[in-house]
Amino acid sequence: MCGIVCYIGKDKAMPILIEGLKKLEYRGYDSAGLAIQDGNHIDCYRSVGKITELEKKTNDLEINGTSGIAHTRWATHGEPSERNAHPQTDVREDIFVVHNGIIENYISIKRKMEKAGITFRSDTDTEVLAHLIALNFDGDLNEAVRKTMSSVEGTFGMAVVHKTVPGEIVVARRGSPLIIGVGEEGNFAASDVAAMARYTNEVVHLNDNELATITKKDFHISTAQAKTITRHAETVEWETEDAELNGFPHFMLKEIFEQPETIRNAMRGRLEKSEGVPKLGGIMPVWDRLKECRHMVIVGCGTSYYAGCVGRYIFERLTEIDVEVELASEFRYRKLNFPPNTFVVSLSQSGETADTLAAIREARRKGAHVIGIVNVVGSSIARETEAGIYNHAGLEIGVASTKMFVSQLTILTLLALLLGRHHNLSLTDGMEAIRELEDLPDKVRKILSEANHIQSIAEKYYRYSNWLFLGRQYGYPIAMEGALKMKEVSYIHAEGYPAGEMKHGPIALINPDMPTVAIVPRDSMCDKMINNIQEIKSRRGPVIAIVTEGDGNLKEMVDDVIEIPATLDFLYPILAVIPCQLLAYYSARFLKRDIDRPRNLAKSVTVE
Ligand code: AGP
Repeated sequence: MCGIVCYIGKDKAMPILIEGLKKLEYRGYDSAGLAIQDGNHIDCYRSVGKITELEKKTNDLEINGTSGIAHTRWATHGEPSERNAHPQTDVREDIFVVHNGIIENYISIKRKMEKAGITFRSDTDTEVLAHLIALNFDGDLNEAVRKTMSSVEGTFGMAVVHKTVPGEIVVARRGSPLIIGVGEEGNFAASDVAAMARYTNEVVHLNDNELATITKKDFHISTAQAKTITRHAETVEWETEDAELNGFPHFMLKEIFEQPETIRNAMRGRLEKSEGVPKLGGIMPVWDRLKECRHMVIVGCGTSYYAGCVGRYIFERLTEIDVEVELASEFRYRKLNFPPNTFVVSLSQSGETADTLAAIREARRKGAHVIGIVNVVGSSIARETEAGIYNHAGLEIGVASTKMFVSQLTILTLLALLLGRHHNLSLTDGMEAIRELEDLPDKVRKILSEANHIQSIAEKYYRYSNWLFLGRQYGYPIAMEGALKMKEVSYIHAEGYPAGEMKHGPIALINPDMPTVAIVPRDSMCDKMINNIQEIKSRRGPVIAIVTEGDGNLKEMVDDVIEIPATLDFLYPILAVIPCQLLAYYSARFLKRDIDRPRNLAKSVTVE
């Protein structure tokens, strides 16, 4: 899951591309490169590490070309090195290719080419694209790329320039996102709108198996079967300050502190208070079937999957629907048999996660209805689902997802409430739930005001290399999400576990050097959780308890306490996750980790 950005226009391409790469760095950051064309001359630079390394390398160079392609890499084939950085080229270095995705049949193609005497410079799968395009090139770059598309398997978002075809950039897509940006005095293409938002918010999405030739003045889209496509630009709402730190040291902390607003944005214009029911326009196209749905499958990956796990408890609490939650990477290969009128709800921040995309395609193939809860407008999952609900959470740049989780829980609660009010939830229940939902932003603000206290707890424990997170019912997925955050940004080995399972094995891990974070709000599982805490304390394990304010009795029992305001049982997950996010953030800070660019990770996983 790399990042691609291209520009062709009247201005010098270098600064525009470098700036665009910085906006895409969350997609991969182990090496980068670019190729700038000036007539029949192409300058190419590659570097290992962050974009700043490439910037250092090119800063003092006088590169006047006004057309170019650039790439930031998340290595899949070939270790991070200058040799494996993109652009990759053909033998004569006429063709320069940047690629996001995986060419699955590259080994067989490479073998054949090596037999034919072609010498490969890199270990990448991408290099076969450059050599194939060279073999297919007879003066028409678009045609050469089209022919190449039909001989490769796998996924790609790619951009190509050729020394002898100045004034053109050819881009193509299958499985990985690629968006054309229509500017006033130049055109763009990128993996994500963020890379070109400063210059345009007029965008055209490429669909799978489409390619386009982009020139300074225009763009032409066609299919892999050479059918011309006419598609007009759509305007995307874009808050550029979303992409700014605004005084915060990291995007992760900024996004944690945005959560009161995130919850409000997820509810804005979606509450019929007097009816005690939410209003979700985006799912009305399927409402007649959805309201009769009695079997639902929630799919997602990583943090989105954990949001789905909380969602299951909320749906079981508020509706008559039988809910399953599935990891998309497993679900896509399952032998699926859906009862009639099954709805699959796909959760995704980026809307581009390859496993989730494949899962919804498989579900549709097997006759299920598919809706999406997605943050990125116009993303593949948004366009491939029958209906859906946008999070309106703004840009999430921190690779470790925080505000998105809280937004997903808020929207899952609204959807469950809407269906529940249609089943047997009373007006009073509905109105109480909406009142409590509206109080959440202030309650979150209250927890955030305790950030220093949480920081001091992190300072006490960040040196321990193994942590346990425990919860029951709604608290169990929060334990898993808390552990995921700790793993992602601090690299501390943390495990989220259902507390009831402790005595069936993991309790063997408990010792004075293993802190446990216990999620113990005052809900129906509180007493059971207290028993589990006593099991740990009796083995001298340190315990940090997340409790409902005023539950002082727990204070004597544990080592450290983080209080959260009282709320309804199915809304506690939204509050209880925030101390977990902050514990992970501050632990990572004490460990001097690169918090917004954790090693080996990327924000949007567009390859399997
Ligand atoms: C979470 O912090 C991670 N970035 C990752 O687990 C993420 O949740 C997962 O890749 C799913 O991404 P999506 O929501 O964009 O589909």
